[in-house]
Amino acid sequence: MARQTLQSLLFIILQVLGRVACLKEVSDRQCDCYVTNDTSANYFTTHNFFDFRALTQYANVPRLIEDPYDSSDADETSEYFLNDNWTKVWGIQRWNNSDSVDSGDVPVLLVNSPNNIYIEKNTDENPTSETFMTMRTSRYEQYQSAAEFESISKSYHFLSVRMYARTIGAPGAVTAMFTYRNSGDPSQITSVQESDLEIRTMDPKDKVQYTNQPSYSTKGEGYDIPAATRNATTPIQADWTQWSVHRMDWTPKDTTWYIDGREVASIAFQVPRDPSQVIFNCWSDGGEWSGNMTTGSEAYLQIQWIDIVYNSTGNAKTTDDTTPSLSKVKRDGDGCQNICSIDDTPTTGTPVLVQGAASRISDHILGLGVAYIWIPLLLATFLI
Ligand SMILES: *[C@@H]1O[C@H](CO)[C@@H](O)[C@H](O)[C@H]1NC(C)=O
Ligand SMILES: *[C@@H]1O[C@H](CO)[C@@H](O)[C@H](O)[C@H]1NC(C)=O
Ligand SMILES: *[C@@H]1O[C@H](CO)[C@@H](O)[C@H](O)[C@H]1NC(C)=O
Ligand SMILES: *[C@@H]1O[C@H](CO)[C@@H](O)[C@H](O)[C@H]1NC(C)=O
Ligand SMILES: *[C@@H]1O[C@H](CO)[C@@H](O)[C@H](O)[C@H]1NC(C)=O
Ligand SMILES: *[C@@H]1O[C@H](CO)[C@@H](O)[C@H](O)[C@H]1NC(C)=O
Repeated sequence: MARQTLQSLLFIILQVLGRVACLKEVSDRQCDCYVTNDTSANYFTTHNFFDFRALTQYANVPRLIEDPYDSSDADETSEYFLNDNWTKVWGIQRWNNSDSVDSGDVPVLLVNSPNNIYIEKNTDENPTSETFMTMRTSRYEQYQSAAEFESISKSYHFLSVRMYARTIGAPGAVTAMFTYRNSGDPSQITSVQESDLEIRTMDPKDKVQYTNQPSYSTKGEGYDIPAATRNATTPIQADWTQWSVHRMDWTPKDTTWYIDGREVASIAFQVPRDPSQVIFNCWSDGGEWSGNMTTGSEAYLQIQWIDIVYNSTGNAKTTDDTTPSLSKVKRDGDGCQNICSIDDTPTTGTPVLVQGAASRISDHILGLGVAYIWIPLLLATFLI
């Protein structure tokens, strides 16, 4: 019994040593799939990485646009957002909520504007990047100028998405990263499937809201569905004004959220079933959920990078034509010989090979020499 336990422990140590010492950085072309380091590992076929950390050539904080029509007609703020690498994957939004305002559902006109999505120089005291992407929302007397980009593809079917981000600014805004599907009448909340990470700038800085929508029912006034949502507490050093890795894993079983590698919430109830979009936004409509921002105030979602591994509907390996060239079409068949990881890598965004023809742990162990691993292992085994 004790011997068995010790042996399994040694086996784990051996594996860890093997991995730490030997993982090789590779390009996505060399990966057949990606395994995530969740407690229950998940496999995904495709990887995408968006890095906003060294884009000084695009850095430019655009002036606010006061007129709501000009705001929605505004140009993209730099060439970065016109490049194929961006436009093949993301669509910057210009829609507004005038319908909901007209029907009296929400008090404030929200207008999404490309002018509110830009690359900004990092002027932090000890900056961890040269630049980042900012999504801005700002309040005028007659309306709220807001920011949203949505994935062009609506075929994401399970994923692990991470952003290195922070939320700062005035109360009365929501910043969010979520999956979204609405199959049917958009006014029917029951046709929505959605896994959300939402930060309300009016909330305490250590509270983040995670939800598998819908979180309320229209049957009966204000009928909440507590099983659908969590008001979670951030790890102590990672309140939402601090740069942290916010991660959301949507799987067939549940959606689980992490901050800086620590699980903060997991919801199996009402987990989205069908292919969805991925959306980021920063907004307010003066309503109960977002709060009402004071005129002249602003809030921001700032992102240094977005790293995502995912599956798509159909045969993801051959039919997802919306993925950019950097995510190469994978080999046919269900074999996943070369398994990569975006977690265990020393270089964010660059995968490492964790298992495959070019990276067998045994090869590494032999390559490393006996001393590090085999001797302690053998010694311990004999001593028990
Ligand atoms: C993603 O697709 C691969 C290949 O079809 C499959 O093995 C894997 O289980 C899928 N992942 C999830 C989370 O469904
Ligand atoms: C809001 O959207 C409607 C419908 O697309 C459009 O007619 C209207 O001009 C937009 N308003 C603003 C301020 O952009
Ligand atoms: C687009 O992505 C490719 C592949 O990562 C990169 O080599 C190229 O520099 C990018 N182009 C721009 C304009 O960022
Ligand atoms: C989460 O809980 C805190 C109190 O701990 C509260 O102030 C905050 O409003 C709650 N957030 C939501 C979205 O209910
Ligand atoms: C929201 O804010 C605006 C401007 O700051 C103010 O005129 C309005 O009364 C507020 N509405 C609510 C519901 O508090
Ligand atoms: C998973 O990888 C992340 C980095 O992506 C790390 O922060 C986290 O601690 C790892 N979690 C486990 C359980 O190994």
